[in-house]
Amino acid sequence: MIISLAGYMGSGKSLIANDLAKKLNFKVVDLDQQIIAENQLEISEIFEKQGEIFFRKAERKILENILNAPENSVLSLGGGTPAYFDNIHLLNQKSFSVFLQASVKTLSERLQSEKSERPLIAKISDEDLPEFIAKHLFERNPYYTQCQAVISVDGKTAQEVSDEIIRLLPA
Ligand code: S3P
Repeated sequence: MIISLAGYMGSGKSLIANDLAKKLNFKVVDLDQQIIAENQLEISEIFEKQGEIFFRKAERKILENILNAPENSVLSLGGGTPAYFDNIHLLNQKSFSVFLQASVKTLSERLQSEKSERPLIAKISDEDLPEFIAKHLFERNPYYTQCQAVISVDGKTAQEVSDEIIRLLPA
């Protein structure tokens, strides 16, 4: 089984994926890390040199490869993955998809110190970040909410969230 974790930047996908995989004895697969390895460039460099469309195509191709080689794993997606091509349908067909839902307040607090490696928000001031995130969530929520499970992460530790995911897993 593949469990895929979707959610906005800063929602805790990577931390939760690691904790969940440890508890289930599954492998962790990080989509962004695979894109970095394949292209030998950081995400910010791919956006800068090749543009976002190139990145989205590379993301789709690697996602297909991962989902077509099913093994017990927790897949940490990029924040935008469900919102491009028909990735959300592919994810729902080939994995158990979980949306890690966080409030604008939680996300902006977490992302203030973590903007530099994230090209979409790198140039947004701390002051403007909540408004930017709110608009982005408005665009992406219709995709995120198609995931098979939705978990609120506000005020919870990664361990608490991964325990909740385990309780929701299909038999
Ligand atoms: C993106 C999120 C990033 C990365 C890229 C684009 C997005 O992943 O895929 O910078 O569109 O929200 P994280 O959510 O792991 O930061």
